[in-house]
Amino acid sequence: MKINSTAYGQGDSTYQAVGGDDGVKKLVNAFYDIMETMPRAKEIRAMHAADLTETHDKLYRFLSGWMGGPRLYKEKYGSINIPEAHQHLSIGVEERDAWMCCMRNALKKQPYPEDLKEYLLDQLSLPAEACRTK
Ligand code: HEM
Repeated sequence: MKINSTAYGQGDSTYQAVGGDDGVKKLVNAFYDIMETMPRAKEIRAMHAADLTETHDKLYRFLSGWMGGPRLYKEKYGSINIPEAHQHLSIGVEERDAWMCCMRNALKKQPYPEDLKEYLLDQLSLPAEACRTK
């Protein structure tokens, strides 16, 4: 049965639809693999530390809670406000779009239904826009 996209976002339905903990991990792995290699992402990759281990752990934990699953970020790092966490960075339209492009390509590699990929891109565009500092 096709899941109606309006059902995503209710409770932990998004988290379950991506495949739970393992699914979030796979998405974040793909996201940073793309950021490492895509020429368009060179500038945003350079904003991050050389070693992505902690950023990786943070995005994975954040997305787990954001998708309605366990609030793993809070458990380990405490509360977070996404726009505030990016305030020290120079993020404009190009950087925002490069980040979204990494996410779009990472989603393409996941076995999710198309409407879930669209839903996630749509929902992530809100915090991505809110991270802009210029
Ligand atoms: C709009 C484009 C974005 C860019 C260029 C960007 C870039 C970065 C960079 C460079 C860091 C590391 C900061 C540091 O080490 O000082 C970071 C941290 C982080 N980003 Fe983003 N980001 C973007 C959007 C997003 C979005 C949309 C989300 C969530 C949906 C997100 C989630 C996070 C999280 C959870 C951290 C860890 C923050 C912390 O614990 O301090 N980012 N981001």
